[in-house]
Amino acid sequence: MQLKNTLAFAKEMDKADPLGKYRSEFIIPEMNGKPVIYFTGNSLGLQPRRTSNFVNEIMSDWASLGVEGHFKADKPWWDYHERLAAPLAKIVGAKTGEVTVMNTLTVNLHLLMVSFYRPEKGKFKILCEEKAFPSDQYMLKSQVRFHGFDPEEALVEVKKREGEHQWQTEDFLDAIEEHKDELALVLIGGVNYYNGQVMDMAAITRKAREHGITVGWDLAHAAGNIDLQLHDWDVDFAAWCSYKYMNSGPGNLSGVFVHERYHNRTDIPRFEGWWGTKKETRFLMKPEFEPMPNAEAWQLSNAPVISMAPYLASLTMFEEVSMKALRAKSEKLTGYLEFILKEVEREVGGNFEIITPKNARGCQLSVLLHGEGKTLFDYLMSQGVVPDWREPNVIRLAPVPFYNSFEDMFRFGEILKKGILK
Ligand SMILES: Cc1ncc(COP(=O)(O)O)c(C=O)c1O
Repeated sequence: MQLKNTLAFAKEMDKADPLGKYRSEFIIPEMNGKPVIYFTGNSLGLQPRRTSNFVNEIMSDWASLGVEGHFKADKPWWDYHERLAAPLAKIVGAKTGEVTVMNTLTVNLHLLMVSFYRPEKGKFKILCEEKAFPSDQYMLKSQVRFHGFDPEEALVEVKKREGEHQWQTEDFLDAIEEHKDELALVLIGGVNYYNGQVMDMAAITRKAREHGITVGWDLAHAAGNIDLQLHDWDVDFAAWCSYKYMNSGPGNLSGVFVHERYHNRTDIPRFEGWWGTKKETRFLMKPEFEPMPNAEAWQLSNAPVISMAPYLASLTMFEEVSMKALRAKSEKLTGYLEFILKEVEREVGGNFEIITPKNARGCQLSVLLHGEGKTLFDYLMSQGVVPDWREPNVIRLAPVPFYNSFEDMFRFGEILKKGILK
């Protein structure tokens, strides 16, 4: 289709968009009485209007039922978390029993490391990407030290090639091959937070598993953004947060995937708590831990239902829409944003280098600003555009198919032009 940098074209695209009606399902922040152009769903997704009903339901059940809400609420709290597993499993390509929701992302990665990072002398290394998200770096280093190894020696960081902004899949595969006998784990961000690159999770997982190396993925920027097939790719474990593309609210709960081959295994260690024991006998308060026969065995505490309610609200929307439809729109929307950036460059100058690979991206475009830098970012913010800034000079723009419109992209282009001409 011939894209055009006109308001009429953008409006036509919005009219033809089968997901267009979902924009009004979200509360879009305003500036000077006008909705902002929100590009930071990769950091914190917007609030769905239906969320407060889900939270209020819990608040009113708590008010009227007190402790009885655990069993007598319309959605009883004691097994509230189970409602999230089936819709989430569809989003990440898993079986329902392979998925659960608990804690927050870094906490879950640590807990999963207890089971899946089993270093031994001579086989203790972890392969990751260079400059992984800082929390992952801290998590990995502290785990390595916890096991008595030296992070300097233990972490194998796959780097981008000199002068390049993207990783080459073959560099991950070669590094796995080179270190195969020493690697205890491969743990990488499925979509890199900085450049927006979607890693070839299928190929990297296959390669590591061929050599019997355990593979985990941090899916913070992937879940609800791109197509995932965790079960079929044979991933060992994964975790993600829910406050980015899943719109569940600031700092909210994390999802966890544990491949079914690990369920019911008694030979791998796990930190345990009462919500991981069999629900049939949980309230007999027995001293023995009898693990749930699925990913729930990794749960520790009773479900924080006030936090789960927004996650469940959001998942009802994914159920209505499907990842397939979201991806279809996302490709068009991000493609249109790329087109607009090029049009602006052509019309008024500016030098925007998109460092996100065209053939391996989700919603996000990371744009390296040559020249304009922070002043342009500040100008955009002052005009009601909400991107984010990453040092030294990258803005990240993540149009989200649930609530961003093609008109947003057009309006952004007009504001950007003024910012350059200023
Ligand atoms: C890739 C990645 N990993 C880990 C985290 C840390 O998440 P949390 O603060 O929920 O533990 C984030 C947060 O944005 C992230 O983007």
